[in-house]
Amino acid sequence: MFRTVGSYRVLEHVAGFPLILVLGKDYVLRCFHNVCRHRAYPVISSNKVGCRPNLGCKYHGWTYDLSGKLIKAPKFEDAEGFRKDQNSLFEVKTEIDEDGIVTVDLSSESKGSPVLDINKFKDGQVETWDVKGAFNWKVAECADAFNFPTLTRNDRGVQVRLGLARKLKHVKPSILADFVALPGHNAHLLMTIQPTTADACTVHCTLFVASSSHASSLTISSAKSDIAQSVLSLEKLYARVRESDAM
Ligand code: FES
Repeated sequence: MFRTVGSYRVLEHVAGFPLILVLGKDYVLRCFHNVCRHRAYPVISSNKVGCRPNLGCKYHGWTYDLSGKLIKAPKFEDAEGFRKDQNSLFEVKTEIDEDGIVTVDLSSESKGSPVLDINKFKDGQVETWDVKGAFNWKVAECADAFNFPTLTRNDRGVQVRLGLARKLKHVKPSILADFVALPGHNAHLLMTIQPTTADACTVHCTLFVASSSHASSLTISSAKSDIAQSVLSLEKLYARVRESDAM
């Protein structure tokens, strides 16, 4: 995802803050608020993913380098008291774990961002897909419904309880989202349930696999199959709940 200098990605809804992740010339992966220091227009307002030599705001042309420093401010350059070095983008602390998962920490000011070893993660793969289901989101939450019978099987063919995987690494970014490490697969799965009506949801799935290989293809197809099965189970459970309510 961040393979060349200037690669960026706009993150729109991190706790309600619009952010940008961008790879600098020094291979440091930095995160900034996507808010121009001039009149607060989004610095990147189109193409949510891409690669660019600098970060230029389209409103009045203020331009920042890839480390967030203001390098161009039309009509302000000679203004009395104006200092470019006091108008850098606001930076947010980032971290990269050993699997290449990037986290941003809005709770603290940046204390230095990590250097990205692009060779280490160059074979990584990201797969996204949606599954629609006829169930109310609360059923999924109450049932703790998502399990991964294929993905949690170890090499002796014995299923590892997901509870164990969750103890190892399971983060719940919100009541409707789960981020789970898949033991033995070198992969992480983010699932977000989006209610569409009282009786329907869409499950947004993003699978991060550390390498692109035959094994990772199997991981992806197993994840798709397991989640489809979980959604079917939820639909049946929700149908039973509705039947018992109607009695
Ligand atoms: S708001 Fe960005 S240049 Fe004016």
